Amino acid sequence: MYALVTGASRGIGAAIARRLATDGFDVVLNYRTNLAAAESVAAAVIAAGRQAELLPCDVADRATTMAAMTALVERRGAPAAVVINAGITRDGILAFLPADDWDAVLATSLGGFYHVVKPLIGAMLKARAGRVVTIASVSGQMGNAGQVNYSAAKGAVIAATKALAREVAKRGLTANVVAPGLIETDMTKDLPVAEMVKAVPMQRLGTANEVASAVGFLCSPGASYITGQVLGVNGGLYT
Ligand code: NAI
Repeated sequence: MYALVTGASRGIGAAIARRLATDGFDVVLNYRTNLAAAESVAAAVIAAGRQAELLPCDVADRATTMAAMTALVERRGAPAAVVINAGITRDGILAFLPADDWDAVLATSLGGFYHVVKPLIGAMLKARAGRVVTIASVSGQMGNAGQVNYSAAKGAVIAATKALAREVAKRGLTANVVAPGLIETDMTKDLPVAEMVKAVPMQRLGTANEVASAVGFLCSPGASYITGQVLGVNGGLYT
């Protein structure tokens, strides 16, 4: 039984990979460029007693990603779990937002969802088992000023995951969303977090492990009747 995690070389994706290994999954680690970081996550997976495979590709690139996913299914069969985690921000208010920043954010989050899930889902349906978990964001739920592109991309993957949940439910597959709030990773390290946490009822950032434990639950046998849901991991920022 294996799980695929996109953007698994650091941050939330790395924590998810480690958590799923602890939960008994072999893990296929997708990453874009940082081989050394991906190798250190692979070492953690192996230390947890599971197999790790590195799968480099840019999930925004349709042709290479769909080919890599098709080859993955041919090589290893259907994944037991797919975690769509890779994402980027290119923040700026819409009035000044370059088209490239619009395209890049949509291509990574929303394009990445299609490029990864589409080639895998047929085999998962045939297996009559499997979990899809999409990492969205509180920005996709409430909309965030300065993040029109990111909010659009994350809102879109929430809707895509809910629609997919309805498509695949009859075959026993689930599809759910984890929507983190402010989490301490490279993505947030340059933000004025001391100011931003004042808006968080719990008054602190979340950790990558706190997001990973929600993903671990949704991929566990205990979550078998949960589908089409959005699970916030946000310290109460959005309810
Ligand atoms: P991060 O920037 O540390 O990690 C993102 C990972 O995705 C990196 O490993 C990066 O290389 C990978 N990635 C980006 N573009 C890629 C591509 N085209 N192909 C393959 N891999 C790619 O950020 P973090 O915080 O770990 O983010 C993980 C997910 O969580 C993202 O989807 C992000 O939008 C989401 N998120 C993060 C929050 C936070 O506060 N850190 C809050 C809400 C959501």
